[in-house]
Amino acid sequence: MPGADAAQVPRHIAIVMDGNGRWAKARFRPRSFGHNAGRKAVRDVVEGCLRQGVEALTLFAFSSENWQRPQDEVSALMELFLRALDKEVDELHAQGVRLRFVGDLDAFGEELRERMRAAMTRTAGNAKLQLNIAVNYGGRWDIVQAARQAARAVAGGQLAIDEIDEARFGQWISLAGLPPLDLFIRTGGDVRISNFLLWQAAYAELYFTDTLWPDFDQACLRRAIEDFARRERRFGRTGEQVAQA
Ligand code: FPP
Repeated sequence: MPGADAAQVPRHIAIVMDGNGRWAKARFRPRSFGHNAGRKAVRDVVEGCLRQGVEALTLFAFSSENWQRPQDEVSALMELFLRALDKEVDELHAQGVRLRFVGDLDAFGEELRERMRAAMTRTAGNAKLQLNIAVNYGGRWDIVQAARQAARAVAGGQLAIDEIDEARFGQWISLAGLPPLDLFIRTGGDVRISNFLLWQAAYAELYFTDTLWPDFDQACLRRAIEDFARRERRFGRTGEQVAQA
């Protein structure tokens, strides 16, 4: 697959991987079958990002709200994450991928937390692709946890209230230090953000597709990147200003 023009490749892509359940239902199979197929799509899209030179990929694997799903589905998802960690980390490490989990990890069992920590430590020196898996994540939670850190810094006397500005506050938000989010993709047909990366998506281009997540592959990723490359990103300026820059 030829890489797109490097200047037009988004540096950071986030994906709401939606549609696993419907994909499985269409095949008269349990929802866990769809999640398992979704895992294969994750592998393919990671491969596509590596090929195209995307620097960071952030995937919404489990939202703060997903705990409300039937208990057997939640358990199956946890089991799937554990198995995926066991199976995929070697390969990701060999490919130069740095793995991070973002979200409120305290809610998970000790075994899963320990394996997430081990995977993060093991891959910490890799720099080819930053792969962030959002688990028990919510965009509002993220802003609130940053606000708590800001309040702590003020209470501790390290910071004055008026010193809190967007740049400073942004340092406490998850994924600080990574390239800004350029492209936000949602599969599965719904046109909403669903409490993912609210702060980080401020200037992201949004891309929605009806394709169900298990069917999303490298060709779909390429189409999304091509669509991104055609957008004019103005960041609040006029088209003329952008053309002159
Ligand atoms: C949304 O589809 C998907 C999820 C809640 C889980 C995402 C998990 C994976 C793709 C599995 C592999 C991930 C990793 C990181 C190993 P849905 O169940 O809401 O689908 P529906 O809208 O059709 O019901």
